[in-house]
Amino acid sequence: MTTDTISSALCTTIAEAHGAVFSARMANRTIGLVPTMGALHEGHLSLIRRAAAENGFVVVSVFVNPIQFDDAADFVAYPHTIEEDAALAIDAGADAVFAPSAKEMYPDGFSSYIDMGGITERLCGAARKAHFRGVCTVVGKLFHIVQPDRAYFGEKDAQQLAVVRKMVRDLNFPIRIVGCPTVREPDGLAMSSRNARLSQEERKAARCLFRALSEACRLFAEEGARGAAALTGAMRGVLAAEPLARAEYVEIVDPETFASRAPEAAVHAGDRAMLAVHVGGVRLIDNMELTETRETLADHD
Ligand code: PAF
Repeated sequence: MTTDTISSALCTTIAEAHGAVFSARMANRTIGLVPTMGALHEGHLSLIRRAAAENGFVVVSVFVNPIQFDDAADFVAYPHTIEEDAALAIDAGADAVFAPSAKEMYPDGFSSYIDMGGITERLCGAARKAHFRGVCTVVGKLFHIVQPDRAYFGEKDAQQLAVVRKMVRDLNFPIRIVGCPTVREPDGLAMSSRNARLSQEERKAARCLFRALSEACRLFAEEGARGAAALTGAMRGVLAAEPLARAEYVEIVDPETFASRAPEAAVHAGDRAMLAVHVGGVRLIDNMELTETRETLADHD
């Protein structure tokens, strides 16, 4: 791919993004948006390919959003790889790559946020108070800037997907939110930009997330386990066997509200098993839907 191809697709200002989208609209093309924080991997590329298959014009945003990080070290450690990202995005079907600076998105004096409450205060929002406020604010801004017909999000971030769906309903954004399946490594680890920060030893240890979720799904589908405590206990057992892993949360949740099922409560097909686990210094999340018939790794190939 030539540098000319990349620079003609790259927009770094909101005015340039408006210009690219305006031309596509004038040509009667539907617009798909794939919001990302860069360090693109196969998971992102599957979203971009789907967006390209379903829309006439695809915008991929690449912006490491400072206001969704509560830990400055985590923000600094987040990979910034815009040239590679732009080339990968275009190759997967993006027509424009919107990569603004933090100043472009949050100029001096910026003080308006989207704060939802409820679902955003649980799980990933419980320990990281400003996280979903940051996500909703930047996604809301991207929706206004790009005005897509459809926007694509991965099910790996199932809570984020549910939060965005609710925000779109609550605030009447005329946008269809498309959830796309988690893409996994051959050993089951969910693809994530954070995986690149795992040492070799931590990378092996990180398989415990998939093992724990698979065990919950197996118990539900094959052994008829229906108690939340039995399933979370089994997942905790798998995680505890891995010395490099430290669980932040291990829950079975209602798939709409993401409220945790109480230990004594019955769980239902469609509920989600949810994990956040620190492996070494890297925080990883993953989840699976509980189904009557069990998914295997081969189903993800
Ligand atoms: O999932 C992500 O990468 C981010 O949370 C998002 C949706 C791009 C907002 O910054």
